[in-house]
Amino acid sequence: MHVHTPEAPGRPLSMVDLKAEVASIRPELDAALAGILDATAFVRGPIVAGFEAALAAYVADLDARAPEAHVIGCANGTDALQIALMALGVGPGDEVVCPSFTFVATAEAAALLGAVPVFADIDPATFNLAPEAVEAAITDRTKAVVPVHLFGQMADMAALRSVCEPRGIPIVEDAAQAIGATRGGEAAGLAGDLGTLSFYPSKNLGAYGDGGAVYTTSAPLAERARRIANHGAARKYFHTEVGINSRLDAMQAAILRVKLRHLPAWTTARRLAAAVYDDHFAHLPEVTRPPRASGARHVFHQYTLRVADRDAVADGLRERGIPTMVYYPVPLHEMPPYAAGARGPLPETERACREVLSLPMHPHLSQDDLARVARAVRDLVTQPVPA
Ligand SMILES: Cc1ncc(COP(=O)(O)O)c(C=O)c1O
Repeated sequence: MHVHTPEAPGRPLSMVDLKAEVASIRPELDAALAGILDATAFVRGPIVAGFEAALAAYVADLDARAPEAHVIGCANGTDALQIALMALGVGPGDEVVCPSFTFVATAEAAALLGAVPVFADIDPATFNLAPEAVEAAITDRTKAVVPVHLFGQMADMAALRSVCEPRGIPIVEDAAQAIGATRGGEAAGLAGDLGTLSFYPSKNLGAYGDGGAVYTTSAPLAERARRIANHGAARKYFHTEVGINSRLDAMQAAILRVKLRHLPAWTTARRLAAAVYDDHFAHLPEVTRPPRASGARHVFHQYTLRVADRDAVADGLRERGIPTMVYYPVPLHEMPPYAAGARGPLPETERACREVLSLPMHPHLSQDDLARVARAVRDLVTQPVPA
């Protein structure tokens, strides 16, 4: 018989805890916002430029090659992808190889430009694009490859470059979930031709509204991306190409500048929380812990298990007051606008969609919170299945 013995509910848990975050830095936020009102510089201007420079320095510092990084703030992470692809000249008739196991924006940015997002399967060991699958998906129409550093761990950029470079195909890293991640001494966003970030509030570095950024180590690509994000204007009222209007506003930049100072500590807290979950699940063969690629520094945007009977486990956790999310339940190639991008079977993508379950992960989880979640998972996966 299936006996439910939920623990007495503890404090309400959430996937992210922005209330705790705001409370922990409130005086700094208040001062930053007051500074914006005093300066009345709401769009572009020195506050946005100051944040772009601070972010460029932060990312370049993580990279052992000490590259010069350029950062262009924009309105959101989806625009960042579109701007990066536009800077590479992607347009109608082109193909862009990307994963199907990702948030829709990765493929949408290519589709908005009239290109076809072509899907390559993932490496089951990391959830990220499998380089050999990318190689198989490349045709003479391939204009770019867009790996996603999913859940906070970088794709195998060295292997992807060795597929793309000989063919002259540029790489745009979708680093929306991976600010601060590194692999083999390279920082997420700086290991390809361009990288993109999202500052959606739930991201590791989230604004309190929308925001995004394009990164690159190439001065010409940076200049072009900046122009494209500003209506294709080389200078005011002089437009050299068709661009878009995509701005990071100064209030978001001021908030992000405050939060960037705390990002290293918050990233450490995420990594420690992941290590605690890992310990709890170490001897539980019913769950597969988040994979770690060798030489990679995972920043745990998500802590994502694989588990059989995933939906039953999610239901059981919800009954115990523990939220979970499924990133992502349906692969992009199974959705009508993107079906044409499946050029071959994507079995690992489909299996991941059936098995993944993301647990609460943010820097403000206590040891008790983590233990409570882990105990509940263990109880559910080891309980006999009801007859
Ligand atoms: C992998 C990935 N790419 C792109 C985006 C798009 O970012 P935004 O929501 O800021 O447009 C997101 C997040 O939302 C994402 O997770």
